[in-house]
Amino acid sequence: MLVVGNWKMHGSKAENESRFGLLAARLADSPRVGAVVCVPFPYLAQAESALGASSVGLGVQDISAQATGAYTGEVSAAMAADFGCGYAIIGHSERRSNHAESASTIAMKAKRASEHGLVPIVCVGETLEEREAGRTALVVTTQVNEVLDLLPEAGPQNFVIAYEPLWAIGTGKSASGAEAQQVHACIRASLCGRAKRLKAVRVLYGGSVKASTAADLFRQPDIDGALVGGASLDAEEFVQICLAASGVTSAEA
Ligand code: PGA
Repeated sequence: MLVVGNWKMHGSKAENESRFGLLAARLADSPRVGAVVCVPFPYLAQAESALGASSVGLGVQDISAQATGAYTGEVSAAMAADFGCGYAIIGHSERRSNHAESASTIAMKAKRASEHGLVPIVCVGETLEEREAGRTALVVTTQVNEVLDLLPEAGPQNFVIAYEPLWAIGTGKSASGAEAQQVHACIRASLCGRAKRLKAVRVLYGGSVKASTAADLFRQPDIDGALVGGASLDAEEFVQICLAASGVTSAEA
C-alpha cells in the first residue's frame, strides 16, 4: 500500500513545519504503508531536512521533460533527486488541462523521472463525458500504454499508476470502492496483457479521498493505495488515511 499526498500549490514555511512534524511523529510506526508527500518545489529543502530521517517519503508534483539546459522556470528530475525525492507525479489532470501537456510530453517526463531514480506516479483518468459515453476503460488504458511505450524497464519497483477520474478531483464526489475497482481491474488486466511482471505495479486511486471513504476503497482487490489532494493538507486526516491503508494490509497479512 502506498498513500501519496499531493499538496498542490498550498503551504508556507510556518504551516509546513507543523505538518511535517506531525507526519514524521505519527507515521513512524506504520512500516506496512509507504507514505509520501509531494510538496511545491520551493519547500523541497525544508521537506528534506524535516522528513529525511523519517519513514515519510518525498516527491514532486511535476518535472521537466528536458534533462538540463536553457529552459527558464523548469525543474529537472535530477534536481528533485538531489533534494532526496523518490517520486514524481506525472501527467496530473491539472497539468494535462491547464498546461496542455500532451501524451508524448507526459511519457517523456516519466522517462526523465526513471532516468534519475524517481518513481513516476502516472495519473490517468476519464472526464464525465467520456464516462457517460462508455469510454472509461479505453481512455485510461490508452493513457497508461502511451507512457509504458517509452518505459521498457517499467515494473512494480519503479512505476506507479494513479487512477483519478476527473469528475472526482477536488469535487468532494469520490468514486465508490466498487466504481473505482471496476476501472482498476481494467488497468490491471491491461498491464498483465502487456507483460507478466507489470501485474504487481501499484495502482492508486485519487479523487476526493478522505479518511471516511478510505477503508471502502482500500478493501478493493486492485486498489493499492491513494493519491490524496485536499485531505492531505490536514496532517491528521492524512495520517488517518495512511492508518486505514495499514489496517487493510495487516488484516490481509
Ligand atoms: P483531491 O485531489 O483529493 O483534492 O480530489 C486529488 C488529486 O488531484 O490528486
